[in-house]
Amino acid sequence: MRGTVLLLGDTGKVGTAVKAALGPRVTVVGANTRTLDASDLSAVEALVDQVRPDAIVNCAAFMGVDNCEKEPERAFRMNVMMPRLLAQKSDRMGSTLVHFSSESVFSGKKRDFHGESDTPDPINVYGLVRRQNF
Ligand SMILES: NC(=O)c1ccc[n+]([C@@H]2O[C@H](COP(=O)([O-])OP(=O)(O)OC[C@H]3O[C@@H](n4cnc5c(N)ncnc54)[C@H](OP(=O)(O)O)[C@@H]3O)[C@@H](O)[C@H]2O)c1
Repeated sequence: MRGTVLLLGDTGKVGTAVKAALGPRVTVVGANTRTLDASDLSAVEALVDQVRPDAIVNCAAFMGVDNCEKEPERAFRMNVMMPRLLAQKSDRMGSTLVHFSSESVFSGKKRDFHGESDTPDPINVYGLVRRQNF
């Protein structure tokens, strides 16, 4: 792969692994809480417009079941509206978007492995906001 990748959440567990996996021909522009408030949609939009990446990898999320129960609005902005904005921007720019969801979109009641086509049945705010349909 070559080109410019905007890596949101580059200091997190998944972001660190993604950064290590991208080859030397990729220019990585990273963002984390020290450089961006990703719950501020205008700030995210301005960053995307400035970088004009070939691909966006979104490893930034408002994490934690308890956190999302306490701050559902922030959870919605960060885990639904922000990825939705990334999808819209990527679509308009013709760039690729990579986004990670969570197994928490499922209730855990199924007695078998889940597949991508399984219908989400979240049981808490965290699972609800990770169930993205955009
Ligand atoms: N880890 C796993 O095993 C796993 C499994 C399945 C899916 N996922 C998904 O992968 C994604 C990343 O998970 P993770 O485990 O890597 O999370 P993590 O370790 O908590 O990392 C989160 C990253 O997002 C950044 N971030 C958080 N809030 C931000 C904000 N308001 N503005 C800007 N940056 C912000 C953090 O920056 P700071 O470092 O500055 O705080 C950090 O770089 C999530 O969508 C998660 O559901 C992870």
